[in-house]
Amino acid sequence: MADLENKITVDERLGHIAFIMDGNGRWAQKRMMPRTYGHKHGAENFKNIVRYCGDIGIKAVTVYAFSTENWGRPKNEVDTIMNLLSQYLDTCEEEMKIHNIRYKFLGDMSVFTPELRKKIEHVEELSKDNGLLLNVALNYGSRAEIVHAFKVLAAEGKREITEEDISGALYTAHCPDPDIIVRTGGDIRLSNFLLWQAQYSEFYFTDVLWPDLSPSDVDEIVREFYRRKRKYGKV
Ligand code: FPP
Repeated sequence: MADLENKITVDERLGHIAFIMDGNGRWAQKRMMPRTYGHKHGAENFKNIVRYCGDIGIKAVTVYAFSTENWGRPKNEVDTIMNLLSQYLDTCEEEMKIHNIRYKFLGDMSVFTPELRKKIEHVEELSKDNGLLLNVALNYGSRAEIVHAFKVLAAEGKREITEEDISGALYTAHCPDPDIIVRTGGDIRLSNFLLWQAQYSEFYFTDVLWPDLSPSDVDEIVREFYRRKRKYGKV
């Protein structure tokens, strides 16, 4: 890590950061606004934070945008998030050019409308040679992902299954495990996010609500990461 003139840059030790973007609803409620207002601001901040992570040299960012459990939210909230997603996908082409983003969507995409799926596939294909990997977990649940991986391996007729086989059949097969998983919004849990991949990830929990997470908060996360001693089960 270098901290030249207050600008942080990371090295290969911090290649992949993952975010559980929690607290949008409370952020809006604090302003006497509907929860959906918080998601709109959360979506804006998501773009800012991804750009900032790229600026400081992080190679891969994963965000938990919509879980398999989030379908249980009120219809207007689910509809708002789906609309934000659709609008977001429309901006990706511009975004990928300016910020060199390579998009990957993690999760079971079969539940989305053909229109949305087409957009997702288009964006993935168009950005596939870019540098900053952005994994957007959508209709994602870690247990469902692991079950899916086993089904893939079973369909291939695999009998002797290794850890590498499982890692290679997950939605995240194209990238290394996250070095750090950050959760905003004050809760201290993983909520079915990257359970397999989190084997030796560092964890960082903050009370800051997602729409308020700032570049200087990211700097503090980076500093804290470099203070940690990663032992991978050794001494
Ligand atoms: C958690 O906050 C957030 C979500 C369930 C959705 C995250 C969605 C976005 C940031 C916007 C859409 C994303 C894209 C990719 C455009 P919460 O609603 O659980 O907040 P609360 O804990 O305060 O209720």
